[in-house]
Amino acid sequence: INKIGVLTSGGDAPGMNAAIRGVTRYAIEKGLEVTGIIRGYEGLLSHEIMPLNRRSVGAIIHRGGTMLRTARCLEFLEEETQKKAADYIREQEMDALVVIGGDGSMRGAQALSRLGIPTIVIPGTIDNDMGGTEYTVGFDTAVNTVLESVNKIRDTAFSHDRVAVIEVMGRHAGFIALYAGMAAGAEAVLVPEHEVSLEDLCTHLNESHRMKKMSSIVIVAEGAAKGADVVDYIKGHTYLEPTLTVLGYVQRGGSPSAKDAIMASLFAEKAIDSLLAGTYNCVIGQIGERIVATPYTEAERLHFPLDENMYRLVLALGR
Ligand code: F6P
Repeated sequence: INKIGVLTSGGDAPGMNAAIRGVTRYAIEKGLEVTGIIRGYEGLLSHEIMPLNRRSVGAIIHRGGTMLRTARCLEFLEEETQKKAADYIREQEMDALVVIGGDGSMRGAQALSRLGIPTIVIPGTIDNDMGGTEYTVGFDTAVNTVLESVNKIRDTAFSHDRVAVIEVMGRHAGFIALYAGMAAGAEAVLVPEHEVSLEDLCTHLNESHRMKKMSSIVIVAEGAAKGADVVDYIKGHTYLEPTLTVLGYVQRGGSPSAKDAIMASLFAEKAIDSLLAGTYNCVIGQIGERIVATPYTEAERLHFPLDENMYRLVLALGR
């Protein structure tokens, strides 16, 4: 291969810029030309591209968001649209495409690979919920951002004897809620992987209160329940004073943590090495201590579940 394209797609995540930088510079190092595609798959349809060189990815490793912009391109679910994109990739003489994004982005890459375009995916989403990898770029930063906010909210919850209900992101997965909950010493976490019983939650909070715990932190993954509903339920079923904070997009922004900038760079190296070795239509990932490339079809079946022990431990320690 001589020339590759790179794009970011789906929700932005801290570390995406570090991945773009890693892909671009490592590919150039290996003698390849690099084209950046603007706004994810949309750019392949609107023909918005830019040549990337070492300098164009300078001073971005520490920046949140993505310099290439991103989009959730629903049109790309249609085969006609995918064909147009594949034709454009060929027209531009890109021999392979590196996609940085989450599950939806991986499905787009898989569709292009079925049309004969070699693709490879670097996992980038704060949710940490992709097949074929135990880690996705952006997760560590998001957890640290949540932790910082929860620690601040705890000061107020403690001072006023309140129950702070904090809603965090994670549409289908509770990783952010669980990890931030563990690190912040939350009394409870609600995650989509476990059936949510607000009755049990109130029993737990009441028991803690009887043990003279005057304030509590409850972290709710958006995919498990709406924070507002949790607050209403606690109000209706206890004498405690719940408050609501929905953290929202602060979790997606900001400079990547050291871990995310490092993982992005290592994933980028593996992506380019794989393409050069003729291994493509794979998602790059971390499994155990190793960085591996797993074919899409296998990755779909290879999901790493939430750590059950950690879930139990949060509850056990939070009394
Ligand atoms: O996929 C990451 C994520 O942050 C989810 O946790 C969240 O539900 C979703 O993106 C929201 O994305 P947007 O508002 O950009 O559509």
